[in-house]
Amino acid sequence: MYSTKHASFYSDSPGPIGIFDSGYGGLTILEEILRELPQYDYIYLGDNARNPYGTRSFEVVYEFTLQAVKKLFEMGCHLVILACNTASAKALRSIQQQDLNRLDPTRRVLGVIRPTIEEVGEITHTRHVGILATAGTIRSQSYPLEIKKIYPDIVVSGQACPMWVPLVENKEAEAPGADYFVKKYIEELMNKDPLIDTLILACTHYPILLEKIKKYVPQGVNVMCQGKYVAKSLKKYLHRHPEIEVRCTKNSEYRFFTTELPEKFAESATLFLKQEIQSERINL
Ligand code: DGL
Repeated sequence: MYSTKHASFYSDSPGPIGIFDSGYGGLTILEEILRELPQYDYIYLGDNARNPYGTRSFEVVYEFTLQAVKKLFEMGCHLVILACNTASAKALRSIQQQDLNRLDPTRRVLGVIRPTIEEVGEITHTRHVGILATAGTIRSQSYPLEIKKIYPDIVVSGQACPMWVPLVENKEAEAPGADYFVKKYIEELMNKDPLIDTLILACTHYPILLEKIKKYVPQGVNVMCQGKYVAKSLKKYLHRHPEIEVRCTKNSEYRFFTTELPEKFAESATLFLKQEIQSERINL
């Protein structure tokens, strides 16, 4: 069935909520979303074959993310969450401002940056905040820019952690060797601004390193994992937008797609979402 109202090529029928990440990291966001909103149907799409995105150029991250969004629309999603900071930082704005209008102005694509920073002003007392993220997210300046819009008084420092995603992806997060890089990036960030009292884990992979991160964070410094903020924000969004909510199906069906081999996806996916995961392969 094709819509005539807005000349969209996508089905008008209600469908699942799409959750996209470059790989496994978005599963840490999905876990919190399922805790908050288990009644909806979800399609998780991980571009594992082309991961990581964090070191890629703006143009390539945008191109890959747009392909994924189009695929999720084709699969029936009316609402897509970019559960990846790199994609949210480098592609979300262009997709919202240019592509949605052309593809289907009634569909929505949301990111993870805004929901995460909305509450940081309630958490920091010193008004000095640190961002730990991929090189791409740090280079985009998305976090300082977004924080300034809501909390102009907050001082923001960023630290790229290029070794953290490979440590997680290669299942080395708990290995003793990981300590070196966890300690190194935290120390570098705290040296930039010793007044920091709140650290944002601005990459969806980083909650897997949480135990090690806590070990090296100075006492009294808060560590923010973004999943629960994204989940709460999605709940509020669906409440505020009944026209989108009615187009999200509710049978508690969760499906997983990967651009890699499903066997490979299953190997690590359980590390992120603590349940048995059957995935299907998809081409973007
Ligand atoms: N999940 C991505 C993010 O949140 C990081 C992984 C990658 O570099 O692809 O930024």
